[in-house]
Amino acid sequence: MRLKDQIEHIAPVVAGILMMATLSSCGSGRSSGGENSFREKTDSVLALMTLEEKLGQLTLYTSYWDVTGPVMRDDYVEEIRAGRCGNIFNAHTVTYNRSLQEIAVEESRLGIPLLFGYDVIHGHKTIFPTPLAEACSWDTALIKRSARYGAMEAAASGLNWTFAPMVDISRDPRWGRITEGNGEDPYLASRIAEARVMGTQGEDLADPLTLAACVKHFAGYGAPVAGRDYNTVDMSELHFRQVYLPPYKAALDAGAVTVMAAFNDIFGVPSHANKFLLTNLLKEELGFGGFVVADYSGVEQVIPHGVAENRRSAAEITFNAGLDMDMQSGIFVEQLGAAVKEGAVKMEDIDEAVRRILQVKFRLGLFDDPYRYLDTTRENSIIYSAEIMEHALESARKSIVLLKNEPLRGRKILPLKNPGRIAVIGPLADNQLDLLGSWHAAGDHNKVVTLLRGMKTHFPGSEINYAKGCDFYSTDRSGFDEAVRLTQNSDVAILAIGENQAQSGEAASRSDLGLTGVQEELAQLLISTGKPVVILLMAERMLTFEKLDNNAQAVLNAWHLGTRAGDAIAQVLAGDYNPSGKLAMTIPRNVGQVPIFYNYKNTGRPLDPQNMYTTKYLDVENAPLYPFGHGIGYSAFEYSNPTLSDTSISMKDTLRVNTRVTNEGPADGHEIVQLYIRDLTASVTRPVKELKGFRHVFIPAGKTVKVEFMLTVEDLKFYNQELEYIAEPGAFKIFVGTSSEKTRESEFKLIQGT
Ligand code: BGC
Repeated sequence: MRLKDQIEHIAPVVAGILMMATLSSCGSGRSSGGENSFREKTDSVLALMTLEEKLGQLTLYTSYWDVTGPVMRDDYVEEIRAGRCGNIFNAHTVTYNRSLQEIAVEESRLGIPLLFGYDVIHGHKTIFPTPLAEACSWDTALIKRSARYGAMEAAASGLNWTFAPMVDISRDPRWGRITEGNGEDPYLASRIAEARVMGTQGEDLADPLTLAACVKHFAGYGAPVAGRDYNTVDMSELHFRQVYLPPYKAALDAGAVTVMAAFNDIFGVPSHANKFLLTNLLKEELGFGGFVVADYSGVEQVIPHGVAENRRSAAEITFNAGLDMDMQSGIFVEQLGAAVKEGAVKMEDIDEAVRRILQVKFRLGLFDDPYRYLDTTRENSIIYSAEIMEHALESARKSIVLLKNEPLRGRKILPLKNPGRIAVIGPLADNQLDLLGSWHAAGDHNKVVTLLRGMKTHFPGSEINYAKGCDFYSTDRSGFDEAVRLTQNSDVAILAIGENQAQSGEAASRSDLGLTGVQEELAQLLISTGKPVVILLMAERMLTFEKLDNNAQAVLNAWHLGTRAGDAIAQVLAGDYNPSGKLAMTIPRNVGQVPIFYNYKNTGRPLDPQNMYTTKYLDVENAPLYPFGHGIGYSAFEYSNPTLSDTSISMKDTLRVNTRVTNEGPADGHEIVQLYIRDLTASVTRPVKELKGFRHVFIPAGKTVKVEFMLTVEDLKFYNQELEYIAEPGAFKIFVGTSSEKTRESEFKLIQGT
């Protein structure tokens, strides 16, 4: 029997077993019984492979996009054919990926199918709000659906693996990639991380409408010194475990089958070469049974990092640290053969890495049918389907955060009440591309509903006029007069300012977070007309705009909301949707406050305005412009003091925390009730507040609802100096409220014993 036939013979059997294993270990990508049960079958494939073919499975190369569509370098195609490349990324569309899969399956010696990876960060063709924006919905069910729909469209395009979710905590809006993450808080970011993994991978990875997820970037990538992308990360392991590790762990617990290493060095060693990180912590302590992929050329980059002299030592150091797959450097396939022969790398470790990769291919059902993701009928029916487009609208609406809505001449500007004339102004007002946001995958900007179009649709009785006013960077003020004239002749002006999509994302760090060009000047000019002006901040990071905020009556964070952006914003302005988003990240007053976050430590000299030797700035207050958890709507929620089921609990008890929330506003509304704790005295310093729960409640105008939270000792745990995860007896504060700042509090004790 030819080798290829042997694989074909094995494959259906393996796939059958795999299917059962996947179902029984549903949602678990970890090295559980599921993997052990088909390890034997994976090994039987492994037994057929030469060393070179094994190294091919550890290799991932990119495809490119030409005007005519996806294209591949000829030498990469040859590598696939020769079994020296087992995985491709950035190639999509069914026809093209099928052509590559045919080469791997029909023309390579063993016919092992390819993985096709892609960055499906916030939707694939239909684009949803950027992840940080969507995190502001605090709606994990919604976010799970976004991941699910993104995976469906991507899988229908011939993909089977995504480099998402990015779960890096970041407290630094200078860093352009905060847009890809879920904000500053470990608890909220963990709940979102698991939702994204579950949505991407579904119930069964072999379902052709799911993708293998990739948790990235391991680890600490969101904390580069000075907010500059790729820069060194320097923190204690205690701090890392407390703040940065939880979302990665949550994503792994939710079953993510792959992990991507980070570009940064951490604990003094580049992540790609960091054995403590990739082996001791990830694979051993956290029990991760999937494979670890490099980031783009990350293997090669350990040379400039200064821990490897040349390509050979880069291969050895990173592979021996626990990295399983090289992305784009081509170093593993080029160098590891000799390293094995010379004993610098163990054959059994190569086998283990190949096994981890093949197991993911098995789980995806690729050995059963390598073409299962390659169906043009599905591609045509799923992409841009009405259901997915409707979801894009829902997600965009729920991501909008109303920061401020003050009265002007006695009346709140929002929601807009039958305005006769509306001026729609700004560089983002009639703009499709930038509303897609950074890293918009295969999104088509021609499908984007602009703000202008959305306003025309949702305000059919109003006359709507547009002026661009200014650009993002230019200091050209020639559009100001027209913008002022339109504002003066209108009942309200909607000003869409912020960033273009290239100002955030990878390698897009900024040292100044103000509005670029003359945007702020235009905003102040329009406000000075005395007409109501609604400021829409459309960006992917937290900008600094304190002066503008002081003068403006209505300000919304309207982000880059994706394909249905214009409809969503117009519905919120019209009051057809009562805004419900809450900040997943603190908005600073100025760059000097950064990093700023709500869960800071008290210090030995907490701020006391009467005492100058306390922690403070001379030129700006400590408090942010808007705190984590802030977001208002057209309702007004009042909270009662929380009542506790007991004043003390033991390590085994559950504490019930109750609060009553009343909607005293004119409109029915949706509130996100937040619960925080503070451990008052512990063996290590603890934050002044820590989010431990949140609930979504819908409260009709004039009504009150009771909201209950349950707390157990698990919610009170932290890492002590010995890095043990424990809870210590003592007094705790409980805070319940509408943001991290506006809370009502109570207190209880945790006591030793049962
Ligand atoms: C990014 C990753 C991404 C990879 C592949 C890198 O530059 O850091 O997040 O998954 O490219 O596109």
